Amino acid sequence: MEDAALDVLPAEGLDVSDPAIFAQNLQGPIFERLRREDPVHYCSKSPYGPYWSVTRYKDIVEVDSNHGVFSSAGATSLDEVRAKGVGDDATPIGGFLNMDPPGHDTQRKIVTPALAPSNLVKFQDLIRARARGVLGTLPIGEEFDWAKTVSVELTMLMLATLLGFPSEGRLRLKRWSDIIAGVPGDGVVDSWEQRDQELKEMARTFLMLRDERRAQEPASDLISIMAHSPEGQALSDMEFASNVSLLIVGGNDTTRNSMSATVMSFHDNPEEWAKLKANPAMIDSAVSEIIRCHTPIMAQGRRATQDYELGGKTIRKGDKVMMWYISGNRKGSGKR
Ligand code: HEM
Repeated sequence: MEDAALDVLPAEGLDVSDPAIFAQNLQGPIFERLRREDPVHYCSKSPYGPYWSVTRYKDIVEVDSNHGVFSSAGATSLDEVRAKGVGDDATPIGGFLNMDPPGHDTQRKIVTPALAPSNLVKFQDLIRARARGVLGTLPIGEEFDWAKTVSVELTMLMLATLLGFPSEGRLRLKRWSDIIAGVPGDGVVDSWEQRDQELKEMARTFLMLRDERRAQEPASDLISIMAHSPEGQALSDMEFASNVSLLIVGGNDTTRNSMSATVMSFHDNPEEWAKLKANPAMIDSAVSEIIRCHTPIMAQGRRATQDYELGGKTIRKGDKVMMWYISGNRKGSGKR
């Protein structure tokens, strides 16, 4: 879309969560305009109700780091039905992502050591061997689906290892992740009831694994860590299952989409690929840059617990606030 056409968009009521914006790849100019003209933007009407969009880096940091005013409790997704499910309160999704301190910190502490870089570095050789294995089987000179053959496969293998989930069942992890992230009608499930049923099946599977691990010696996989740690033992069945679902979805979409975005980025920017090939020491910064550019988690939500002034606007107690990382990490977003 040309800049001139953007100027006639109704900034006041613009719903930047509209999937059509992303399907047409218009998010760049639209967020640029919001950052320039209305960086803390109120949308009074959307399929998910009214909400604020915070689009500049410094404002996002202000919201993200103020748990007292901006609560995660049940509010990290714009679509709260998607986050919670329907029918009863027993849909096992979200985990400590949807909590505030101090409860959040107690539950997060259970898995933090396993996900710390100092622990993950132990998997380096295994990850390299698996990457070589998968890449070694790719057809040459034939079209193939990179996302399915490489991104999904490597992500699922690694997630199964981290969780201590049988690797032959790894595609069930993908299915559950897709269900958690999706809603009926988007090609994954047909109804909310089916979604709830399948997620309850996920919960039963992980509770069974938890009980098995509890009966065994402690090991380094996440299920065993959660089963044996005192804080993990204090979790109810539902809390345990929700936290596992958080790990599945947190580790899944993000990693596989980053891998696909990597290939796409280098395809679109062959000069960057040439630079990286000439200097593999740039791999670490290339990974960060791809995550910045493609932003696998485009936005996260919060709910205001009191009135708050941000960017010259008054956010009212109870208002929903979306932090658009995909906008805040762009040039001109105020990041220094
Ligand atoms: C490219 C990869 C990844 C990206 C871009 C990413 C991004 C994020 C972001 C932005 C949040 C914050 C959400 C919020 O504040 O509301 C988050 C939280 C989280 N992520 Fe990731 N993530 C990635 C990979 C992973 C992996 C591989 C795992 C685990 C297997 C994981 C587990 C989690 C967990 C447990 C949380 C909740 C943290 C908390 O509430 O304190 N993530 N991630």
